Amino acid sequence: MKIAHRIILLLVLSATSIVAGQNATGREPQEVHVGVILDVGSLVGKIAVTSISLAMEDFYAAHQNYSTKLVLHIRDSMSDDVQAAAQALDLLENYNEETIIGPEKSSQAMFISDLGNKSHIPIISFMATSPTLSPSSLPYFVRAALNDSAQLNCIASTIKAYGWRKVVPIYEDTDYGRGIIPGLVDALQEINAHVPYRSVIPTSATSEQITNELFKLMTMQTRVYIVHMSPALTSILFIKAKEIGMMNKGYAWIITDGLTNLIDSLHPSVVESMNGALGIHFYLPKSTELNNFTMRWNMRYQIDNPTDTPLKLNIFGLWSYDTIWAVAQAAEKVGLANTKFRKPVATKNLTNLEALKTSNNGPKLLKAIMQHKFIGLSGKFDLSDRQLVVSTFQIINIVGRGWREIGFWTVQDGISRKLNQSKNGTTYSSTLSDLNPVIWPGESIDIPRGFEIPVSGKKLKVGVRSSGYPEFIKVEMDQITGAAKASGLSVDVFEEAVKMLPYAVPYEYVLFGSPEDTSSRSYDDFVYQVHLKLEILNPLIVAEEIVGRLLSRIVLIVWLCFLLVLTSSYTANLTSMLTVQQLQPTVNDIQELLKSGEHVGYHRGSYVKGLLEELGFDRSNIKPYDTPDDFHNALSRGSGNGGIAALVHEVPYIKLFLASHCIGYTMVGPIYKAAGFGYVSITTAYR
Ligand SMILES: *[C@@H]1O[C@H](CO)[C@@H](O)[C@H](O)[C@H]1NC(C)=O
Ligand SMILES: *[C@@H]1O[C@H](CO)[C@@H](O)[C@H](O)[C@H]1NC(C)=O
Ligand SMILES: *[C@@H]1O[C@H](CO)[C@@H](O)[C@H](O)[C@H]1NC(C)=O
Ligand SMILES: *[C@@H]1O[C@H](CO)[C@@H](O)[C@H](O)[C@H]1NC(C)=O
Ligand SMILES: *[C@@H]1O[C@H](CO)[C@@H](O)[C@H](O)[C@H]1NC(C)=O
Ligand SMILES: *[C@@H]1O[C@H](CO)[C@@H](O)[C@H](O)[C@H]1NC(C)=O
Ligand SMILES: *[C@@H]1O[C@H](CO)[C@@H](O)[C@H](O)[C@H]1NC(C)=O
Ligand SMILES: *[C@@H]1O[C@H](CO)[C@@H](O)[C@H](O)[C@H]1NC(C)=O
Repeated sequence: MKIAHRIILLLVLSATSIVAGQNATGREPQEVHVGVILDVGSLVGKIAVTSISLAMEDFYAAHQNYSTKLVLHIRDSMSDDVQAAAQALDLLENYNEETIIGPEKSSQAMFISDLGNKSHIPIISFMATSPTLSPSSLPYFVRAALNDSAQLNCIASTIKAYGWRKVVPIYEDTDYGRGIIPGLVDALQEINAHVPYRSVIPTSATSEQITNELFKLMTMQTRVYIVHMSPALTSILFIKAKEIGMMNKGYAWIITDGLTNLIDSLHPSVVESMNGALGIHFYLPKSTELNNFTMRWNMRYQIDNPTDTPLKLNIFGLWSYDTIWAVAQAAEKVGLANTKFRKPVATKNLTNLEALKTSNNGPKLLKAIMQHKFIGLSGKFDLSDRQLVVSTFQIINIVGRGWREIGFWTVQDGISRKLNQSKNGTTYSSTLSDLNPVIWPGESIDIPRGFEIPVSGKKLKVGVRSSGYPEFIKVEMDQITGAAKASGLSVDVFEEAVKMLPYAVPYEYVLFGSPEDTSSRSYDDFVYQVHLKLEILNPLIVAEEIVGRLLSRIVLIVWLCFLLVLTSSYTANLTSMLTVQQLQPTVNDIQELLKSGEHVGYHRGSYVKGLLEELGFDRSNIKPYDTPDDFHNALSRGSGNGGIAALVHEVPYIKLFLASHCIGYTMVGPIYKAAGFGYVSITTAYR
């Protein structure tokens, strides 16, 4: 049964061997044998078969007097690497192929290129785009396509334009899928974006496994995904993503060129499930020539595949067309017609790699292919680097059953709304104004933030407690929920700072002490308590951040530094506001206070106490107070009556004090600079 199947297949395949060309000059053109290995059943394979046969007709119609003609041997690799390798070996051993075109998968091209290197046969692929296949290390490998790395700067510029800082790549676990990841991470690093997680999908994954992976992604913060997979897996991915609500507002999806290049050929229901996604693809300018070809191609495809629903031609079809032209032209140039061809060997011994013949023509043919530059249907066709080099990418937005253009990206100019804008090549841009508006998933016109507070995430615990200065921080308990509510300047600054972070930091306030307890405690105490974690915090906000580090360590970070300035204030018995400017303070500086042995006050818990002691104040002359009212009382009484002559405090508090006690007080220097106000955070480790 199997054998019968194989025989039928071979018969079908030899029937598809395409021989074209006429001997208008009366001479029989010499045959140049070319192997073509395709996954004949795949989308790209089907498209390529039609394109290649049209290319043969068109080329030899345009060059009727050529002394050579290509004879194509089309083989089906059946989406299988081993099958592809066996076909390549057979073609090389038994058919004296001068070149092999088209291993579709990067994994197939890898082995076949090794064979090419051994036998000096150029291997030309218009589909193997993985950068792991590097022409520089495979001397007979030619990529008649862009490699997947070419698009990475375009993707990075797009991500930068939308201000996203974290991106999760979702890719298939193949040479193709993995190939772009190192380059992607580098390109993102350059724009200060990061990859917090990589989602690897095995090609054997069931829809259930894919759904589970999507649920996992949903619990994470990042909402920007780069999808780099084959059409079959991508279809399942997006249909499932839509089902579970990941194609709703707030999500952003970018699909790489491998898939975007095929977008017109995908089933409309798949395209619909991708609504709102962005895609990057090879930019193909419209032309009458291309239009004419597309019409002919559509008719031919229908004839080649009468029972199929019509497919749309894509860039891979055009690259395969241009590849045939390049090879046919090179064959004529090298004059392969003059070589004697050995008859195909009847017996097959595919296991004998040692016996692989080396081609004399291979190096010449390779050189001719590399030297022949022309404008093909796909645009400039220049294989001098043994691969096409990127010119222009188009950024698109998938809408309805089709797509609309968002902008372009070129190596020289970066992102632009229109091509050939007179930018003079000096501004390499990646800003929003350079792109058309996008209709995002969920039909939203708001640019996704790129992150969301995850449903099941750890919250940052922010310790707060009341202070004698409600203007700076005031804490209340919500009677119903029991949650701590904080307000005041310190809280506002903290909340604004968190909002400006490029990723979500979910947090909650944790009350220390009771809301009524406004007494101060020592700052030293505070730092020590932060060091101990468990419970006593001070009026400043204490933030506890959890990061996944193995070693436990404590880091004190001053987040937002206000400059803290120390000064002293004193009593001046003013009788009239009008004369205030002419009056001299009773105390001019702190030295005077020291000399006269006056009592001075400080805010309880403040490090000012230590400072005063250092300055030489007698401990019995230093008095702690809690609230502005206490300061006022003590200052009113004066040093002689159990009060104080001056209060040494921090400038922000003094300003606050003077705002409510404007008569009778002023602020004098000198101002001592100290470390500053801060938000203290402790970084704890966990496994
Ligand atoms: C090609 O030339 C040969 C002999 O010169 C002739 O017999 C044959 O008919 C020609 N074929 C075509 C297609 O013109
Ligand atoms: C074919 O014909 C063109 C002109 O029609 C001529 O320039 C070219 O040299 C010819 N090529 C060969 C191989 O005869
Ligand atoms: C290609 O072949 C040359 C010898 O012809 C060898 O030196 C080189 O290592 C081969 N490269 C690969 C990638 O196999
Ligand atoms: C396209 O087809 C039309 C009609 O067949 C023809 O007149 C025109 O010259 C063609 N244009 C190109 C660029 O091939
Ligand atoms: C295949 O090649 C090996 C080694 O040269 C030889 O021993 C074997 O007989 C060959 N088999 C066939 C079927 O020719
Ligand atoms: C991929 O293409 C880019 C741009 O055309 C090029 O800079 C890069 O070297 C290529 N990478 C490989 C592995 O060929
Ligand atoms: C852009 O300019 C180049 C030459 O500078 C030209 O070849 C190309 O056709 C122009 N493209 C568009 C879309 O105008
Ligand atoms: C571009 O540069 C040329 C010469 O450097 C200058 O004359 C021209 O005005 C510039 N165009 C724009 C749009 O800046």
